[in-house]
Amino acid sequence: MLRLFLFLFLLLLSWPPVSGDAGATRLDVGGPPSKIAVIGAGIGGTATAHFLRQHFGPEVQVDVFEKGEVGGRLATVTVNHHDYESGGSIIHSLNLHMQDFVKQLGLKYRRSVAGKTAVFNGEEVILEETDWYLLDLFRLWWRYGISFIRLQMWVEEIMEKFMRIYKYQAHGYAFSSVEELLGSLGGSGFINMTRRPLSDSLLELGVSQHFIDEVIAPIMRVNYGQNVSIPAFVGAVSLAGAQTNLWAVEGGNKLVCSGLLKLANANLLQAQVTTVSPVYSGEIVQYQLSFNTATGSGSELYDIVVLATPLQTSVASGVKFQGFSSPFDTLPGEYHRTVATVVHGYLNTSFFGFPDPRLFPFASVLTTDTPDLFFNSAASVCPVNISAGFRRKQPQEAGIYKVFSPQPLDKAQLKTLFRSYYSVQVTEWQAYPQYASGQGLPPVELHSNLYYLNGIEWAGSAMEMSSVAAKNIALLAYHRWNRQTDMVDQKDLMHRIKTEL
Ligand SMILES: Cc1cc2nc3c(=O)[nH]c(=O)nc-3n(C[C@H](O)[C@H](O)[C@H](O)COP(=O)(O)OP(=O)(O)OC[C@H]3O[C@@H](n4cnc5c(N)ncnc54)[C@H](O)[C@@H]3O)c2cc1C
Ligand SMILES: *[C@@H]1O[C@H](CO)[C@@H](O)[C@H](O)[C@H]1NC(C)=O
Ligand SMILES: *[C@@H]1O[C@H](CO)[C@@H](O)[C@H](O)[C@H]1NC(C)=O
Ligand SMILES: *[C@@H]1O[C@H](CO)[C@@H](O)[C@H](O)[C@H]1NC(C)=O
Ligand SMILES: *[C@@H]1O[C@H](CO)[C@@H](O)[C@H](O)[C@H]1NC(C)=O
Repeated sequence: MLRLFLFLFLLLLSWPPVSGDAGATRLDVGGPPSKIAVIGAGIGGTATAHFLRQHFGPEVQVDVFEKGEVGGRLATVTVNHHDYESGGSIIHSLNLHMQDFVKQLGLKYRRSVAGKTAVFNGEEVILEETDWYLLDLFRLWWRYGISFIRLQMWVEEIMEKFMRIYKYQAHGYAFSSVEELLGSLGGSGFINMTRRPLSDSLLELGVSQHFIDEVIAPIMRVNYGQNVSIPAFVGAVSLAGAQTNLWAVEGGNKLVCSGLLKLANANLLQAQVTTVSPVYSGEIVQYQLSFNTATGSGSELYDIVVLATPLQTSVASGVKFQGFSSPFDTLPGEYHRTVATVVHGYLNTSFFGFPDPRLFPFASVLTTDTPDLFFNSAASVCPVNISAGFRRKQPQEAGIYKVFSPQPLDKAQLKTLFRSYYSVQVTEWQAYPQYASGQGLPPVELHSNLYYLNGIEWAGSAMEMSSVAAKNIALLAYHRWNRQTDMVDQKDLMHRIKTEL
């Protein structure tokens, strides 16, 4: 009874309803949050901080915890006074959040330097790109028939549906799970695509096994270090990343992360969060974060917390939950190790069947799924800053190459790939999920005001996927806080948006 009374009283106080930025009405029950924490300063966490600031306004304190480097899996290594991407490197032209960040931050697009790709099967180059676009198309047509066109149409249709997310998000709609989000974009078809192998979807589409082995498998190997058994949805993300309209950020992709932190006016705390536990006072729940810094330990209370780092044990985030049963006690899955080796040296073109390096026309070599092959790809790479006069090194010159492999390369393997080298820099990544079909997707909502961003990686791991998840969580947290249930998990959004202004 008292509760009802109090509710009516509060309702009166808050009349007329304040309108949220999405245009919906809201009941301002508890006032705005005063402190929000984001754990992780990769692209996911920093984009979340930025979107939280947009939605919750200038007053709220936004703290971002980072145990390592700002950027996370966006990172560079320095070779010979130049920096090279060692983690996430390419961005698709239709990745609208990433584009928007770059624009807002006044960063520049890094131009791409032309270079040809080949596919190597361990013995010889079986597929090569040529100078002439039409000739390439003709060759693909001749070799694989209809496969190529079917595949392109399939990827384009998926991308077109995926792009609906930008409209939904611009209208302020949020989703309480990755399934809800995907379902609203592509129905049960999209959700099913996170559960069945890519190869099954492609065979059903009429793509030939030959094409899958020689074209699709190499692309999955270079992008995700895995084979064509990965789920169809992440497979499509990976294929989109093999198209031609790709870019990167001048100066390094990680500049987006540090830029977003500034833009969000967020506090960066160099600390590893160790525990998250709910603290109740009456109806209100807050979260106590305990953390370790270089000099000691501390703890703080927050109204809303976003976890923006993978929590699988193989990633060793070190975050533990206390005082509530975490949904992660049963969360399966591991992250896949990919080793990025950046070598300054002379490529051994003989190994690829070209004894004379001057006749080796390729900038990147992808590989088929061949049992004894110790690497996934090897490519000549450009620095993150490209000056006007830049040109790619010729294979007979010493150049900078990036090799992806499942294990660190040993001396013998390096000597196989390179005639000789000046330097070798190794980055071992827990790079992306170890995909399997039928895995299920982790939850977004862990507790009333506690959210998890990186579940989206199990649908597809990419900078833009983390950015989409960041925007979704900021909207979700905002609507949950303001009890705007009509902005979460709404059905038939395509239609609703058409009828909205
Ligand atoms: C080799 C490689 C190549 C890739 N290529 C591409 C590509 O070409 N294009 C593309 O779009 N994507 C690519 N990706 C994927 C892309 O890099 C990731 O999907 C994306 O960067 C993930 O960002 P995130 O912020 O979600 O996670 P992360 O970048 O992993 O950020 C999480 C952060 O949280 C911090 N952290 C963890 N635990 C704690 C704690 N307890 N307390 C405080 N901080 C903590 C970590 O230090 C880290 O900085 C690639 C990834 C790798 C590894
Ligand atoms: C997705 O899978 C479910 C269950 O197997 C099925 O009922 C549904 O028709 C599938 N959706 C599509 C679009 O294939
Ligand atoms: C792909 O790799 C997984 C895990 O390593 C394996 O179980 C599966 O059989 C492989 N699939 C193919 C088509 O080789
Ligand atoms: C590289 O590019 C970034 C972003 O444009 C710029 O801030 C930086 O000064 C550049 N560095 C060099 C060495 O040119
Ligand atoms: C280069 O590749 C050839 C052919 O595989 C191999 O015989 C040779 O040992 C490799 N290494 C060097 C340093 O030439």
